[in-house]
Formats: sequence, structure tokens, C-alpha cells
Amino acid sequence: MIDANSVEQVKEQTTQRIEAASSIDELENVRVGEFGKKGQFTLLMKGLKDVDSSSRKELGALLNKTKKELEQRLVQKRESLQEIEAAKALSSEWIDISMPVDVDPALNSFGSLHPVSLVRRELEEIFLGLGFSVVDGPEVEGEYYNFEALNIPSTHPARDLQDTFFTKMGSLLRTHTSTIQIRALENMEPPLRIVAPGRCFRCERLDASHEHTFYQMEGMMIDKVVNVGHLVYFLKTLLREIFGREVKVRLRPGYFPFVEPGFELDAWFQGKWMEMLGCGLVHPRVLEYGGIDPKKWQGFAFAVGLSRLAMLRYQIDDIRHMQAGDLRFLKQFS
Ligand code: DAH
Repeated sequence: MIDANSVEQVKEQTTQRIEAASSIDELENVRVGEFGKKGQFTLLMKGLKDVDSSSRKELGALLNKTKKELEQRLVQKRESLQEIEAAKALSSEWIDISMPVDVDPALNSFGSLHPVSLVRRELEEIFLGLGFSVVDGPEVEGEYYNFEALNIPSTHPARDLQDTFFTKMGSLLRTHTSTIQIRALENMEPPLRIVAPGRCFRCERLDASHEHTFYQMEGMMIDKVVNVGHLVYFLKTLLREIFGREVKVRLRPGYFPFVEPGFELDAWFQGKWMEMLGCGLVHPRVLEYGGIDPKKWQGFAFAVGLSRLAMLRYQIDDIRHMQAGDLRFLKQFS
């Protein structure tokens, strides 16, 4: 039979358990243990019906009052535990995911892919279908990968063609994705076919067609017999897929130390020849640097400017839009 004493006892115990809870989960256990279906306090309430009718009313009032008090304690404790847990999370996470997001309803609140990403993904799909793999390499590179192993020794004037950002430690920001040719040769066994999209950096004077940061996609195929015919076949396929029709191309001799012969490929686009990309047959010395015997293997390589291609594809008139982060520009691609 319950009485005022047993209520007082349960109240004291419960208060202690609430105060001792050190996490929100623990506190929840206390709450269920007391007020759940089979909770201590619930049992007390149920016992009320067996109490002598003379004291039932008084005891009922006491139970209700006690319940309110305990519930209030639970709420207070929960708040203080939440504060502690939030402070803990804040100090261990550098992003506060509980911060409200400031969504301007005038803007599209869903993101969209950047035009360079759209073109990159499309090219990756095309080349995956042609048996190429997509590979990657670091943006901060050693001189060896950016120049030396690409047959551009430190005394070579070709280094002047690519104004380079050097770090104080002597590394550099890669000026082209050709670095990944060497990394692929080092890490993969021939025959191989790779494409390698990536961000490149040059210390350029900025204008509508020059940015310090831009995107290229390198391609390379190494096999027993590879000639200019293969190169042209793959590049024409690329352009046909991107522009949705047959594209007329021409090769002009072009100088790149890592290919021999080297070419610039132009495409006939809107009534004129547009310079599209650099390409050629991989220089035997580059194969050697990559640890591959040039007497057994040959290859072609090319690099297409992804930023340039996105500009042609979407008729973007200034490369500086690409990096400006202006939502009015970016929203057009959603
Ligand atoms: N890496 C050259 C550049 O950024 C482009 C290039 C030319 C890449 C010829 C190649 C190639 O793979 O064969 O200017």
C-alpha cells in the first residue's frame, strides 16, 4: 500500500538518478524507468486505486505535484546536457551543422553542377566507353613530374612557356595535367589507356581567355603499335560526342617537348578554325622516364582544355566567370 512516505522516497531516488545522468541517452533511460509503462512512478500512480478512499484524494494530489516537479527537473537537466553536448561537438567539429542556413528564396536553393564539371563528366563517360580509365594526380607537384620527366630539363627554354607558381619549399602548382602521364607510366603496366582531368595553375596576366586557374584533361594510350591515325580517331570521336555532330579537324605541327611529332589540333567551329588541343606521339624519353621500354611500346598523348571546351559548348565569353562564384552565372546550368 502506498503512502506519502513512499512517494517521498521515489521522488528522492528519481531526483538523484536525474542529477546523475551524464548524457541525454542516460537521462532518457531514467525517464522511461520512472514514467514509462512499467516505470516506478507509473506503478505508484496505479497503486492509488488500492488506497483507502479517505486519503486517496490527498495522495493523488501529492503524486500529481511530485510528477510535475520531476518532469520539470527532467526538462532542466536535458537542457543543460544539450548545452554541454553542443559545446563538446563545437570544439571537436569544425563545421557547425546545427547553424541555420540562410537561403535566399530569390535564388535557386538547389545547387547545380559547374559547366566545367558537366563537360568533364561527359568526357569521362565517352572515354570510359572507349576503354580508358580515369586517373588523378596531385595539384602540388615536384619539378620532376611537371618538367624534367616530360623532357623539359631545367635549362630548356620551354619552361618559359609556362609561368609557374613555386612554393617556398620548392614544389610547384602543376601547370598542366601532363604530370599524370608520368605517374600513370610509373604506376600502371602497359598496354594502358588513361584520361586525367584536373586543375592547373599558371602565373598568367588575366584576361577573357586567361586565368591563373583552369582545367585540362590529359589523355594517353600506350600499346605495341600506336600511330597518328589512332590519335586522330580518338580525338574526332571526342569532338563528335561533345558537339553532337561530325567535326572537321586539322593538325598543325606544334612544339611540346614530351611528344614527337607534336601537333596542335584545330576544329572547324562556327565558320573558323579553333585551336582545340595539343597532342602527339609520346616521346621515347618520356616513356623511359616512366620506366617503360620505348623499343617495345609506343603511345599518343593529348590534353584538352576543359575550361575552354565548356566555354565553346555553352558560349561563355569570359573565362573569369568560371571562378567568380557568381550565382547568376552558375544558376544557368541547373
Ligand atoms: N601540356 C600541354 C600544355 O598544357 C598540352 C599538351 C600538348 C599535352 C601535347 C599533351 C600533348 O599531352 O601531347 O600546354
